[in-house]
Amino acid sequence: MTQRVWIDTDLGFDDLAAVLTVAESTGWAIDGMSLVAGNAPLEVVIDNAQRAAACFGWGFPMHAGSDRPLVGELVTAQNILGDDALASAGRSLPMARAPLASSDAVVALAAHLAGAAEPVTLLALGPLTNIARLLQAQPALASRIGRLVWMGGSAGPGNHTAAAEFNAGVDPESINVVLDAGLPLQMVGLDACRQVRVHAHDADVLRAIGSERAELLADLLLGYVRIASPDGSLPMSLYDPTAAAVLVAPASMTFRAAHVVAECDGTHTRGMTVVEWRVPRRATANAQVASVADEAAVRRTVLDALAAAARH
Ligand code: RIB
Ligand code: CA
Repeated sequence: MTQRVWIDTDLGFDDLAAVLTVAESTGWAIDGMSLVAGNAPLEVVIDNAQRAAACFGWGFPMHAGSDRPLVGELVTAQNILGDDALASAGRSLPMARAPLASSDAVVALAAHLAGAAEPVTLLALGPLTNIARLLQAQPALASRIGRLVWMGGSAGPGNHTAAAEFNAGVDPESINVVLDAGLPLQMVGLDACRQVRVHAHDADVLRAIGSERAELLADLLLGYVRIASPDGSLPMSLYDPTAAAVLVAPASMTFRAAHVVAECDGTHTRGMTVVEWRVPRRATANAQVASVADEAAVRRTVLDALAAAARH
């Protein structure tokens, strides 16, 4: 039976790799995509998504969502990822663009949830702004979300700041809206994603496929690896695709119950996800938090999917 997912994303490269991981996995179908500002301003995220959809032949509807977090101004990762959030060692996505289905992702996702025969699985790869706004607008739809897998947060140090993972740091208030709604959250945080690394050599393997798409994906993957070290000599943690692997290769990650809350007021800790593992003694669990990754399994799942996308 085909398993179905709606993806919410701030489409940078690791998001792209995560979408391809799902799209190339047998037995999975993507019902829709909602776009959110994060890696880059919303208009850049929209442009990336339209060009990726045209390049890789995505047929699912894409909807533009929130251009800013629930509170405060947008902070992007362009200083790390480049202006288009698709740092590349060469090629960029072709200029052809697939159309957006709408400019109101919250309305579109609400309609999808309301009309779905079964509770919906969401894969969130950016700040949780769109999902929080949906829950604020139509709280009853929380019951139509059967599972939320989110790449975000951390049970350890951050990457955006010493305390905050990027997606959490952009919009911490949205995390608490999601947690307060009681959604079945699987949080795939930095501490789990840092167990999975990609290397410059992985780009070489992709490039050897020899197609134009292989060259493009190899250049984008190498550009991503070079975030860790300009010469690509160091490995780079694999973020969003690790969350995608939780869906399509569920044995690749273990989870532990925990209580999670996002810090919104700390001068130095805003965006920190405070993970209390001592449940139920010290707190009531409100999330499943990714704990131990099978690096080989995640790498195989993601790199095989990118190779398959390159061969089309
Ligand atoms: O911290 C990593 C997360 O922030 C990933 O989702 C990446 O795409 C950026 O959005
Ligand atoms: Ca992302």
